[in-house]
Amino acid sequence: PTLEKELVPLYFGWFVMKRDEDTLRKTSHDFLEQLSNFKPFRKRLQEYGYEDKHKLDLLKYFGKTPNILHCTTKYCDYGKVAGSEEYAKMEAVKKGYSKAYILHITALFVTPRTAGARVELTEEQLTLWPQDAEKEVMPKDTFPKGSRAHITLGTAADVQDVQTGIDLLEFIKLQQSGGEKEDLGEICGGKIYYYENGMWMLNLSRKIEVKTIFSGYYG
Ligand code: A2P
Repeated sequence: PTLEKELVPLYFGWFVMKRDEDTLRKTSHDFLEQLSNFKPFRKRLQEYGYEDKHKLDLLKYFGKTPNILHCTTKYCDYGKVAGSEEYAKMEAVKKGYSKAYILHITALFVTPRTAGARVELTEEQLTLWPQDAEKEVMPKDTFPKGSRAHITLGTAADVQDVQTGIDLLEFIKLQQSGGEKEDLGEICGGKIYYYENGMWMLNLSRKIEVKTIFSGYYG
C-alpha cells in the first residue's frame, strides 16, 4: 500500500505524440503564415490593433505556444477546481488513463486572442468529457457536449491558454445562429471563413488525425 493518497493533476487531457505533434506544429505554422499573407485577412486587421492592408506576422503575434500540444478534458489545479476529485475517480477516466486515442481535427481557427484546432470527439472519447465543460465558461448558452474540445496552438501576449476553448465556443455560437460568416475561398487544404471581430476559421476538407495518449499533467 502507498502512504500518500492519489494526486490529482494540474489537468487531464489527450497529449499529442511526438511525431504527430511535429506535423501539427508545421500545419499550424503554414496556416498562420498563409493567413498573414491572405489579402482578405490583410484588409481586416483593425481587430488585431493594426492598420488595414499592412502585414501582420501571425507567427510572431501568437508567439506563446504550449510546451506539449494537447486537448484538455478537465482542468483540476491539483484538486482545487470543483468536481476535479470526482472526475479523477470516474470509471471512464481510470479505464482510459494511459491509453492511446486518435483525435480528429476538423478546423483551425484564429481570433485576436488565440489560435487553435477544433477537435471532433468520438462517442468513446466523449465518455472522458466532463458534463459541464461548456456550461462552465458559457453558462447562458447550450452546446452539444464536446463543443469546447480543442488544441491550443498559440496565444497572443497576455492571453491565457484557457481562452482558446472560449473562443471556439464563440465560433460555434455564431454558427448556431447561422449566416453571418463569409466564405472567402480556399487556402491550406480547406475553406476559409471570416465571421466577425477578427474571427477566422479554416474548415479542413480532410480531417487531420493525431495520435495521443490520455493522461494527467502534473507540471
Ligand atoms: P487549453 O486547454 O485551452 O490549452 P495553465 O498553463 O494556465 O495552468 O493551463 C494548463 C492547461 O489547462 C492549458 O492547456 C489550459 O488551456 C488549460 N486550462 C487552464 N485553465 C483552465 C480552465 N479554467 N478550464 C479549462 N481548461 C483550463
